[in-house]
Amino acid sequence: MYNSKIIGLGKYVPENVVTNDDLSKLMDTNDAWIQERTGIKERRWIPEGSEDTSAVMGAKAARIAIERAGLTKDDIDFIVFATLSPDYYFPGCGVQIQDMLDMKTVGALDVRNQCSGFLYAISVADQFIKTGMYKNILVIGAEYHSNGLDKTTRGRGVTVIFGDGAGACVLTREEDTSKGILSTHLHSEGKYADKLIVASPSIAHWVPEILEAGEEDTSYFPYMDGTFVFKNAVVRFSEVIVEGLMKNGLQKEEIDMLIPHQANLRIAQFIQKKFGLTDDQVFNNIMKYGNTTAASVIIALTEAWEEGKIKPGDNVVLAAFGSGFTWGSAIIKWC
Ligand code: COA
Repeated sequence: MYNSKIIGLGKYVPENVVTNDDLSKLMDTNDAWIQERTGIKERRWIPEGSEDTSAVMGAKAARIAIERAGLTKDDIDFIVFATLSPDYYFPGCGVQIQDMLDMKTVGALDVRNQCSGFLYAISVADQFIKTGMYKNILVIGAEYHSNGLDKTTRGRGVTVIFGDGAGACVLTREEDTSKGILSTHLHSEGKYADKLIVASPSIAHWVPEILEAGEEDTSYFPYMDGTFVFKNAVVRFSEVIVEGLMKNGLQKEEIDMLIPHQANLRIAQFIQKKFGLTDDQVFNNIMKYGNTTAASVIIALTEAWEEGKIKPGDNVVLAAFGSGFTWGSAIIKWC
């Protein structure tokens, strides 16, 4: 058995900045409400006319990650792509990456686990590397939310939170099993699927029915029971971090860097307090990007690394919670 380690990180966000004040021109909201409840100051939204999509942004982030890994696209053995906002209903974005990067006919897997998507994606990649089946795996998280949000007052409880962007990393084989990804932990609780959901179009409720229902039917916009999601998030985040620490015999004091999914700054602050971590031990960038769902942890990890906040030997903890409900963590000995 091997371990896997991250050897290249990349991110791409659209240049178009949308501030809270910009949103207040579209709907009844304001900067004070958004900042107080979520910590978000601005987010990136793909502008009209741009060619960016989840796959296109994912490819941009992937090229950076592969180059930083010191590899070429021909060294990649497998692709895992996490998104809830794919370019097509099918096929998935993974195969688009194989084409966009002009790669060999390697396997490409799409992961649909929303805000926990990146955690599920690196966990899957980690298993393939552990068993020796693949050596280098490209893992991408990307989201194009902005075109699917209700940009009226009706949707304000959800729309102000989400942003567009992509992150990518390359995982490779590590012979020393005391380094790299030490463990991953995944969970789900499907009874709460309807608490955070885009219910259609689904095969059971296809486009003609939505069109026929007219404005009455808002099932193609994201629905979120924000308070319920918040309450579950703080509990599950904590549980899954503790699970990861216990598995590796680590104390909370030994966490060097926690990168939580960027759902809400208040959730991250709650976790920080609960684990007794300092501001330097928790990385947040939700202020700039909002919640980019499957892209959020990998964009944050990339920025933390770019800013020199992660060093070899550090215990890095990744954790996420989101729609499904799904949640997960990864404990990494950075190397
Ligand atoms: N601007 C202004 N007012 C808004 C608003 C907005 N963007 N969105 C909602 N409101 C209003 C509501 O209409 C409500 O008004 P009312 O009291 O007159 O009915 C009031 O603000 C409170 O709404 P509520 O939804 O209870 O707010 P909240 O304190 O729960 O905060 C969230 C809302 C979404 C910020 C919060 O619930 C949250 O962050 N939940 C978790 C979200 C999350 O993590 N999602 C992703 C999971 S991966």
